[in-house]
Amino acid sequence: MRHHWMFLGACGWVLLILVFATKLIGHKSVEEYEERVGSPNLTVSGQTTGKVTLSTAGNPVLQDPEQMMAQSSAVSEMHEWDSIVEKRLQLLSVGCKNRSLENLTRIPISKFVLDRIFVCDKHKILFCQTPKVGNTQWKKVLITLNGDFSGVEEIPENLVHDHEKNGLPRLSSLTPQEITHRFETYFKFLIVRDPFERLISAFNDKFIKNPRFEPWYRHDIAPVIIRKYRRIHRDSDQTASGLHFEDFVRYLGDVEGRRRLDHQFGEPIIHWTTYTELCAPCDIHYDVVGHHETLERDAAYILSRAGIEHFVSYPAIPPGITRYNKTKIERYFSGLSKRDIKRLYARFQGDFQLFGYSKPDFLLN
Ligand SMILES: *[C@@H]1O[C@H](CO)[C@@H](O)[C@H](O)[C@H]1NC(C)=O
Ligand SMILES: *[C@@H]1O[C@H](CO)[C@@H](O)[C@H](O)[C@H]1NC(C)=O
Ligand SMILES: *[C@@H]1O[C@H](CO)[C@@H](O)[C@H](O)[C@H]1NC(C)=O
Ligand SMILES: *[C@@H]1O[C@H](CO)[C@@H](O)[C@H](O)[C@H]1NC(C)=O
Repeated sequence: MRHHWMFLGACGWVLLILVFATKLIGHKSVEEYEERVGSPNLTVSGQTTGKVTLSTAGNPVLQDPEQMMAQSSAVSEMHEWDSIVEKRLQLLSVGCKNRSLENLTRIPISKFVLDRIFVCDKHKILFCQTPKVGNTQWKKVLITLNGDFSGVEEIPENLVHDHEKNGLPRLSSLTPQEITHRFETYFKFLIVRDPFERLISAFNDKFIKNPRFEPWYRHDIAPVIIRKYRRIHRDSDQTASGLHFEDFVRYLGDVEGRRRLDHQFGEPIIHWTTYTELCAPCDIHYDVVGHHETLERDAAYILSRAGIEHFVSYPAIPPGITRYNKTKIERYFSGLSKRDIKRLYARFQGDFQLFGYSKPDFLLN
């Protein structure tokens, strides 16, 4: 009996200390995160399951009370998220059966799709890459889990996307039998976000920031789009100002013209190809569709469902940082013609409807 009271007392103290500790940590993490928004750090450790030890009575005792509390609340959060994920999958399944969307959702599992899916054999995971939705972090997680690096921080930035060397095979590198086996037995996931926010992110990343390693977008792609889609050809050197969001939207919304241009570019450009074309979610039965807008919950959920939560953890993401920003969307689309926006929406309607993003009526009406 006395033991019980002492235990309860101890728990009380631990709780108090925890409350103060989380207050302190909470303040700090927001500031720290601001600095690394571009590339949030991932902490990956080899084996941290060793924190559980056995007491003399044979019951597992957690040495770390913080971990114990975190685990019990994590379990209830996990159940709550189960039903959210289940609803997303139901919506997806309904959308896939909708005949009026079939031109957007009937996607054969082509080599292009198999190229998008990365394989972690060690933990039986398939991850379909949807660029501009924070995929680099997930790729780092899988590269680390595959065992070529001991931690995420040790993966050189330029290696993450170097698929010859990063030890992260694509599904397309396997035989049809091996592929089928993995589809049937592995944990499969992808992450999505609001389709228009993704396009804004792609536009900024590829045409405005012009990363050193990808001059191709600004020097080869942009001039071709401008020549075909810029409305007002004022001066002779029209490409000097770079691609405008309006040119980009007109290109994306023009089904036939775009097909011709993409053919000229080589293949569809993954940064603005729809989720359905990238991942064929009506034909491949993904176990989880994560949402960027709720990344913190989804990341924890995915790690747990994939059974890798003891090997990997996602850094704290302060609330709001991945939140949908309507103001930003309005700003980018302001001044664009309704006709162009409607054509763009028609092109991405499948992504909106299948993944539960509401139609942006504020842009269309
Ligand atoms: C199918 O999609 C169309 C177009 O978005 C929509 O109007 C309709 O309600 C959907 N049908 C069902 C059964 O969900
Ligand atoms: C699908 O595409 C075909 C051929 O392009 C077209 O005839 C048909 O009307 C489209 N269906 C829908 C529901 O948009
Ligand atoms: C983040 O990663 C960098 C290297 O990529 C490393 O130097 C730094 O210590 C990491 N920060 C944290 C908080 O893990
Ligand atoms: C939303 O985007 C606008 C315009 O880019 C920016 O000024 C604002 O700070 C953003 N709001 C949030 C909550 O991030």
